[in-house]
Amino acid sequence: MQLDDELCLCFHVTKRKVMNYIRIERPRRAAQLSECFVAGTGCGCCRTYLARLFDEAVSGGTTEGDEPTSEDYARMRSRYVHQGGGRPPPGATPIDELPQVDPTKGENRGPLDGS
Ligand code: FES
Repeated sequence: MQLDDELCLCFHVTKRKVMNYIRIERPRRAAQLSECFVAGTGCGCCRTYLARLFDEAVSGGTTEGDEPTSEDYARMRSRYVHQGGGRPPPGATPIDELPQVDPTKGENRGPLDGS
């Protein structure tokens, strides 16, 4: 995930906004990151990542290394929402459709695959 990638896809909050918020406002608890453009108050999928950024900022660490790509991050969010983890608000980045499984073939098919 790059600095200008959206960390909270529900409210279009970038990683850069959150990191600047942490640096300038110095929140005492991870939950206070919701004061940064209401990040984390939609489907809730990004709360784990917000908490991780907060913990790393407090400990002086970095998030480099095992960062998901923005595409992987969006897929994780779609899976989270499809599994009942939360509901994105109106105006949120849409979630991906899940691939459909053909039980007779046992294979995954995309939602637009008519075969
Ligand atoms: S992605 Fe942040 S609340 Fe949904």
